[in-house]
Amino acid sequence: ANHRPLYGRRILITAGPTHEPIDPVRYIANRSSGKQGFAIAAAAAEAGAEVLLIAGPVPLPTPPGVIRVDVETAREMAAEVEAGLPVDAAIMVAAVADWRAADTAPQKIKKDGSGAVAPLALAENPDILAGLAKSPRRPPLLIGFAAETNDVLAHAEAKLARKGCDWIVANDVSADPMGGETNRVHIVGKDGVDSWDRLPKEVVARKLMEKIADELDARISA
Ligand code: C5P
Repeated sequence: ANHRPLYGRRILITAGPTHEPIDPVRYIANRSSGKQGFAIAAAAAEAGAEVLLIAGPVPLPTPPGVIRVDVETAREMAAEVEAGLPVDAAIMVAAVADWRAADTAPQKIKKDGSGAVAPLALAENPDILAGLAKSPRRPPLLIGFAAETNDVLAHAEAKLARKGCDWIVANDVSADPMGGETNRVHIVGKDGVDSWDRLPKEVVARKLMEKIADELDARISA
């Protein structure tokens, strides 16, 4: 067997949450641990790829052989993704915040004690995956993730079409909570669904690298 099936391929991976500042001491975040994305970056490097990992704020060590760029916000992540192109495959694992504070206050916001609803307006963040799908430098293989709590396959199929990517790796976060060590994923593509057992995130990552290598090889020989 070929132990470095991604040798010569350049792969970009986003991972972790984003933090969207409200004021100097507060931010909007989510429960993403970055574990699945970092495991994917590690497996891609082990498989011989040149790996660029664009990571939100997570206290995880950089996997061996991986080039890591740390970002805080969705807009910083979008800029680093753009700067990392072109790549053979992009795997968008990050749980990007959908909204940011419309204005970031330069000083700590004070409560006024009146009990009134807080004046926090939100603005929509760019969708990095959907933007990449429309880019003239769209990676030949573009993969999104979908963390769902219900109707996992139906939501994944809708997301595949809406985002314009090639595969959606979907999982049920009510069965495998964010931050855990395992995932039961369904890889939804235009031609069907591949469903794997519940597996450690490292094993999901290695199996995904085999599938990506097969897909990139098939495209070249086609
Ligand atoms: O729409 P939803 O957030 O469920 O889509 C998840 C997928 O889209 C993931 O691959 C995630 O990394 C990507 N995404 C993105 N930019 C956003 C929101 C999601 O790249 N602003």
